[in-house]
Amino acid sequence: MFAPMDKYCVLGNPVEHSRSPWIHARFAELTGEDIAYERRLIPLDGFAEAVRAFRAEGGKGCNITVPFKFQAARIATGFAGRAALAQAANVLVFEGERILADNTDGVGLVKDIEDNARVPLAGREVLLAGAGGAVSGVLGPLIAAKPARIVVCNRTPDKAQALVDRHRDLARAQGVEVTACGLDEVRGAYDVVVNGTAASMAGAGVPVPPSVLKPGTLAVDMMYGEAARGFMQWASSHGAQPRDGLGMLVEQAAEAFLVWRGVRPPTARVLDELRATLAR
Ligand code: ATR
Repeated sequence: MFAPMDKYCVLGNPVEHSRSPWIHARFAELTGEDIAYERRLIPLDGFAEAVRAFRAEGGKGCNITVPFKFQAARIATGFAGRAALAQAANVLVFEGERILADNTDGVGLVKDIEDNARVPLAGREVLLAGAGGAVSGVLGPLIAAKPARIVVCNRTPDKAQALVDRHRDLARAQGVEVTACGLDEVRGAYDVVVNGTAASMAGAGVPVPPSVLKPGTLAVDMMYGEAARGFMQWASSHGAQPRDGLGMLVEQAAEAFLVWRGVRPPTARVLDELRATLAR
């Protein structure tokens, strides 16, 4: 008798375009891990029920995407440190009665910037636009990479301020200056600009002025495909180095795979393959 495969899934709304099932299937092939991974479209008011149902089916863990990352943290019974500060989770691990919340978005972003784009963050100036479920998970790991300064700007400045306030002790311990402001209060130019807003989805274009860019600034959109196109074109037309969110997507997935399976899959090859698949 074969044991049934361990089951994982991504829960979101919308979720139909999620590349996570493809990425985790490739990771499983490359590491020899035997897992099943599916996507599930969850009604906006049905998140807790969807998690309960998946656990009842024997699910071992799941990825969480928009708009459920804050809710995922709220239903957890325990936190990995990086999810506690974020108050948002993109990974849940089911262990008996326990639901552990983790957040691998930030590690994914930092790995993509430092390892894939080869831009060391130490001593740099970073602008982070947004303060939602995606950005909440990345501030802690960005601070841990010890840039000189991080400015978090958001359409609703109070949300950026609350996020910064939660990270104040970490920032002090790491010697990083972290401040918050509104989108129209952003001043100065940065080495790295990260767009974690949903502005492009709302048809509102790029949320920060071109004055934030200098020649060679790494300008990363956490989105990819059509949703990132406007930001990437804007960045290149102002002399910056554009980067979409595919690298972060693959890196955060690898970290989730490591949390679930105890094995770190290779990412560079999977990222190349994913780019080739999407370019077809
Ligand atoms: P996600 O989980 O993808 O981060 P979210 O939690 O809904 O989604 O957060 C969306 C982010 O995009 C927020 O920072 C939001 O700003 P507010 O906090 O002011 O809502 C930002 N955003 C959405 N539409 C925007 C727009 N048209 N212009 C600028 N920022 C926008």
